[in-house]
Amino acid sequence: MMKKNFNLLLLISFLVAGCNSGLSSDNKNTYAIIPAPVSLKQMNGSFTFSQKSRIILSAINDETKLAADYLALLVKNPTGLSIPVEEGRKSISQSVFMSLDPSIVNVEGYVLKITPEIIDIKANSAIGLFYAVQTIRQLLPVDVENGKIIEGLILSVPACEIRDEPAFVYRGMHLDVGRHMFPVADIKRYIDMISLHKMNTFHWHLTEDQGWRIEIKKYPKLTKIGGFRKETLIGSGNEKPQVFDGKPYGGFYTQEEVKDIVAYARSKFITIIPEIEMPGHSTAALASYPEFSCTGGPIEVATKWGIFPDVYCAGKEATFKFLEDVLSEVIDLFPGKYIHIGGDECPKDRWKKCLDCQNRIKKEGLKDEKELQSYFISRIEKFLISKNRKLIGWDEILEGGLAPEATVMSWRGVEGGIEAAKQKHNVIMSPYNDVYLYIYQCEPEGQPLAASGYLPLEKVYSFNPVPEKLNADEQKYILGLEGCLWSEFVDSPQLLEYMVYPRMFAIAETGWTPASQKDFKSFLSRLEIVKKRYDAIGINYFKGEYRNTRAIKN
Ligand code: ACM
Ligand code: ZN
Repeated sequence: MMKKNFNLLLLISFLVAGCNSGLSSDNKNTYAIIPAPVSLKQMNGSFTFSQKSRIILSAINDETKLAADYLALLVKNPTGLSIPVEEGRKSISQSVFMSLDPSIVNVEGYVLKITPEIIDIKANSAIGLFYAVQTIRQLLPVDVENGKIIEGLILSVPACEIRDEPAFVYRGMHLDVGRHMFPVADIKRYIDMISLHKMNTFHWHLTEDQGWRIEIKKYPKLTKIGGFRKETLIGSGNEKPQVFDGKPYGGFYTQEEVKDIVAYARSKFITIIPEIEMPGHSTAALASYPEFSCTGGPIEVATKWGIFPDVYCAGKEATFKFLEDVLSEVIDLFPGKYIHIGGDECPKDRWKKCLDCQNRIKKEGLKDEKELQSYFISRIEKFLISKNRKLIGWDEILEGGLAPEATVMSWRGVEGGIEAAKQKHNVIMSPYNDVYLYIYQCEPEGQPLAASGYLPLEKVYSFNPVPEKLNADEQKYILGLEGCLWSEFVDSPQLLEYMVYPRMFAIAETGWTPASQKDFKSFLSRLEIVKKRYDAIGINYFKGEYRNTRAIKN
């Protein structure tokens, strides 16, 4: 469990100075919203929640009720007030009225009007209602985040009119739990922060060379053997000789835990995309079941970082049966339409020497091992499509030809994304140099070990996922962007937060706010205010230099 980094001084100053108004002194700029809304008209006065308040839905169903219940909880947490959620018409003053309105075209868009009498929310769908509530959360006093009832708190939000919708349909955050894993509570906290900033996807990287982290009932050795490594490299890997800590490391998420996390994500309107890596980055799986490798093993779970030679054998039919069985269990756990199958960094050395792989190349009339990789991915795609799912892979799946309906996640730069968009394939931009949050976020001196490079907040903020090289038709294939956190050097939830925040908020703003309205100065000034909220939540965000000082020096 994370200890709350609760700011006692903040509470004392609130109790002394802020009780009468119900607002602490940290609520001066009451319109600090990240991501910035498309349009915000500030107005006079404020709406105050009271015992008379109701949340009235024009139509109650499971989804709209999630949005309404979430608002009720935001009010209840700091006040103890239980606001009823009812179906009905807009009539009662001092209430929140939520309705679905098809004239709002964007599925995730909403219109939020706050007056002293009423809060009126309209949206195309429940997710838009929920995003309006997330905006309300950012307008509420930071005291709501302290996780306890504050006697005498007057819960007000400033009057305004907001019209809002996202720039991109895909706004995601990735998390690698293969190198290091994080407790269920911290995964939920990560999902909370994704959703607070109106991102809609959590990409959960569940299998790696160094650890297999999801229980698969049919293949228990995946977690029994593949979930554990005998020790872990100390340092970046460049040290000579390499030094290891000598301590076993491991664990995995049970299917019950996965179900719990999926349900939690759904309550926050987050879709989870599970990633099961293939054909490369599969050392842990092959340590468990070496019969699906080219050599037959023995193979050990990796203890250091990098790219490893043992990959799934593309020649053996048994490999595909195994992967289809694994994917079937994964599909049953994750209801979203996408399954990520990795596809990156697959060395071809074993395939070149393997009789089975070479026979496959001959039998299928393939030119080389690159086409064998394409065969592998296309075959898995066929299986996913048969289960009504879609495949995503890293940009190496372009090698040897893209699977017919694959979506490409462009990580080595934007070039893979450009190539895929030109081939009329959907693209998610996650370029290493712009959104890989395991890279140093300031000058490395005095910082915890991180991946080499320099990626300050300002640089993350300046990333535009739509390359100018694409024409207007091709640009339509860019679904959005995703920030990635690889966990080689991130071995605790506290360090996770330090690396991710506030850079994730910049990614959220790029995903939501129109590029023409993005403004780093405005973002920074809102961030200074919003930080009080993160302090109250207890987020261990990075507090150093946010500007790109190397660019300033040049
Ligand atoms: C990756 O960073 N290898 C996708
Ligand atoms: Zn083989």
